[in-house]
Amino acid sequence: MKEIILNHKMNMTKQDIETYIEEWKHIKTDHHIVICPSFPYLPYFKDCPYDLGSQDVSAFPNGPHTGEVSASQLKSLNVKYTIVGHSEKKEQYQEERGMIQEKIKRLNEVGIIPILCVGEKQKEEYKEVLAKELNDIDLKHTIIAYEPIYAIGTGNTPSKERIEEVAAFIKNYVREKTGLKPKVLYGGSVTSDNANILSQSEVIDGFLIGGASLSIENMKKIVKSM
Ligand code: PGA
Repeated sequence: MKEIILNHKMNMTKQDIETYIEEWKHIKTDHHIVICPSFPYLPYFKDCPYDLGSQDVSAFPNGPHTGEVSASQLKSLNVKYTIVGHSEKKEQYQEERGMIQEKIKRLNEVGIIPILCVGEKQKEEYKEVLAKELNDIDLKHTIIAYEPIYAIGTGNTPSKERIEEVAAFIKNYVREKTGLKPKVLYGGSVTSDNANILSQSEVIDGFLIGGASLSIENMKKIVKSM
């Protein structure tokens, strides 16, 4: 069984979400599905047979933080997983390590599982980048999503061998540093074609899916191909 995390990003209207939820009822799978819609749609997923995730969380506890959503608010909406440190947050909002560390603390306080995104840019040396991104982070309850930045939304997916090499590096690095054995997912232009190949890997524990997660037809194909 693999983890399949669906990251809707800032997409869909209320009507789209209602149709989406209806149509998901016809998808049968033994894989573990976590859907991360935009914040306002979280309550719509209340009676759905899969787990609910959010795309972000505030680094602060409840209080005067306009526009933010706290870990305890997410918990009260039955959110079980939260994406942290996505490259879009790092690039567009200059989210830094201190912020990511605080977000993971807030999630751990309420028992929501963080999904920490890590990944290098095209010409960067992955070992160096990932070691920095994994240091000084509480990884006790954390799932790690390897998302090479050049692969997000571009169709430029690395080979299975390359993803396996990096996933194995992450697992070894974390085990040596902390004794933990985290799950490592892959994210970046996942489609039914590459999901079929990558899901055969024992090192890759699942996927974080952006663009393809918006279409029920694509999700049907992906789940079937696994
Ligand atoms: P993508 O996005 O599947 O559209 O590449 C993945 C992600 O950013 O989590």
